[in-house]
Amino acid sequence: MSTESKVRAVTTLRLKQMKEQGEKISMITSYDYSMAKIVDAAGIDVILVGDSAANVMAGHQTTLPITLDQMIYHASSVVRGVERALVVCDMPFGTYQGDPQTALNSAVRIMKESGADAVKLEGGEEILDSVKRILTAGIPVMAHLGLTPQSIHKFGGYGLRAKEEAEAEKLIHDAKLLEEAGCFAVVLEKIPAALAKRVTESLTVPTIGIGAGAGTDGQVLVVHDMLGINKGFSPKFLRRYADLHTIMTEAVEHYVEDVKSGDFPNENEQY
Ligand code: KIV
Repeated sequence: MSTESKVRAVTTLRLKQMKEQGEKISMITSYDYSMAKIVDAAGIDVILVGDSAANVMAGHQTTLPITLDQMIYHASSVVRGVERALVVCDMPFGTYQGDPQTALNSAVRIMKESGADAVKLEGGEEILDSVKRILTAGIPVMAHLGLTPQSIHKFGGYGLRAKEEAEAEKLIHDAKLLEEAGCFAVVLEKIPAALAKRVTESLTVPTIGIGAGAGTDGQVLVVHDMLGINKGFSPKFLRRYADLHTIMTEAVEHYVEDVKSGDFPNENEQY
């Protein structure tokens, strides 16, 4: 599969229909070809090429260091592995918070050079002009409210957001503005479940939650977290579906033993 743009089976329109029909939306992150191929074949609806690549792929403490070129590299690798799912690529920190023209240029580069289907931006009213400018080019935009990791230095930690009335009211206001601007979905990260449900009921576009309870239209998890590759991250909202850290460690230990003992390769494993 090339990075040539093509319309995949899951579209932004299909996601809206899923909300209308009460069908939950499954979303997961991926950053490379092989993982994307697996999650796509497993039936996931949306693949997010998250800037969490900065954490799980590159080992950074925050998502801030990842560049536009690096996001395009990850997204184009993912796109080559995907047949069915909608591929959304995060716009990295610093590529859209300034003037709308820079935001549009960054989004156009992502679409042209990676073949992704949509972009995701963090923030509300403060980035609305950039969102609107990107939408004028026909590029679908997914919004992201609540805990927005690119603002970690402002928040001072990764705790629950919008616990207080003022922040909750701003979030509801922002979600409405983003929907009116034309965003096709809104990610709600680490906010009280009751607030996420309220936002979901007030919007016609789908909400996708992470640490936001069961009342959203869909759920997203970071693939390394839910597969248990990442041992050091255990927030309450995370359900681990596998313990790949243990499986992978044992497999590599076994390989090391076999190489050291001369058991690998055997006579059937050579030419
Ligand atoms: O970068 C990312 O993985 C994300 C999800 C946590 C929503 O933005």
